[in-house]
Amino acid sequence: MKKQLSKIFSSYKGKKEELIPILQQVQSEFGYLPEKAMLEVAKFTRVPESRVYAVATFYAHFRFTPIGKHHICVCRGTACHVRGAPKILGIIKKRLAIDEGETSKDMQYSLDTVACVGACGLAPNMTINKDTYGRLTAKKVSEILRNIRKKGRK
Ligand code: FES
Repeated sequence: MKKQLSKIFSSYKGKKEELIPILQQVQSEFGYLPEKAMLEVAKFTRVPESRVYAVATFYAHFRFTPIGKHHICVCRGTACHVRGAPKILGIIKKRLAIDEGETSKDMQYSLDTVACVGACGLAPNMTINKDTYGRLTAKKVSEILRNIRKKGRK
């Protein structure tokens, strides 16, 4: 972790105004904000640890638990909402037995929602890691999850 943090810190001066971009970079490196990393960020920026934690918890996009192998983000934008995103989200929650913002115990799946994935014409959409899946239906979602499971066993 030290090596990765040093690399991140090398592009900053250690000013308190840099706190949010640093935290964003830490999250993109580790997939979440490990407590140890937040303590190091506090030292580097000379911002009190409690303040770093307060800032991080204020923004909904920061995570404090590790992310699963398959990061599922269901779009909750207007186009997706009116075309059935809540139903899609409900199916995924039920199938994986996790709620929004949670990761399955086996660390295979994390579930989140996003404002818009930029493919409104294909609504309802979801992304899994870097792939986007559009025109989702209950059947299609079940197939996608089944395929992921199959691949995971190989
Ligand atoms: S609202 Fe879902 S992709 Fe834009």
